[in-house]
Amino acid sequence: MARKDQISAAYKQLGHGASMYDGMMTCTTMLGTTVSRVVWGIGPELNAAYLSCVFDAIPEGFDGTLLEVPVGTGVLTMPLYQTLPQAKVTCLDYSADMMASAQQKADALGVADVTFTQGDVGALPCADESFDIVLAMNGFHAIPDKEAA
Ligand SMILES: C[S@@+](CC[C@H](N)C(=O)[O-])C[C@H]1O[C@@H](n2cnc3c(N)ncnc32)[C@H](O)[C@@H]1O
Repeated sequence: MARKDQISAAYKQLGHGASMYDGMMTCTTMLGTTVSRVVWGIGPELNAAYLSCVFDAIPEGFDGTLLEVPVGTGVLTMPLYQTLPQAKVTCLDYSADMMASAQQKADALGVADVTFTQGDVGALPCADESFDIVLAMNGFHAIPDKEAA
């Protein structure tokens, strides 16, 4: 099986329901926190510090265009976008299953201007300089062609 197909298959399972994955990314469930500590050496405090570091780079009240790639299940960023109602957000990921979970969260939180596009970060389906901000976190390790990414 090609590497990209392996990744799609792996994230298909994780995207389904996404509770274990979301608990791991947020360190909010016992199982998720345990997995995060064992696999990544990251517990709730470090996770919160890491998130602040990324989110603090986005200006308060940001109202421009933002590309997030890979968005995964959006468990970390949909609550952020809820606080930026003027922002125009485009989310891209290889896995339609992960993004289905992100779409559900966007709908539940009433995130106004967000679109989801399936695609490869190594071959972005958009022109250069289309976005004011590109947000990418927790993804580089999962992307096979790092040069293209
Ligand atoms: C660990 S998840 C991280 C998602 C999200 N940023 C987060 O913090 O939860 C990694 C994601 O990378 C996606 N991915 C892997 N290779 C990709 C590629 N070439 N282009 C776009 N997305 C890719 C996977 O489908 C998966 O959803």
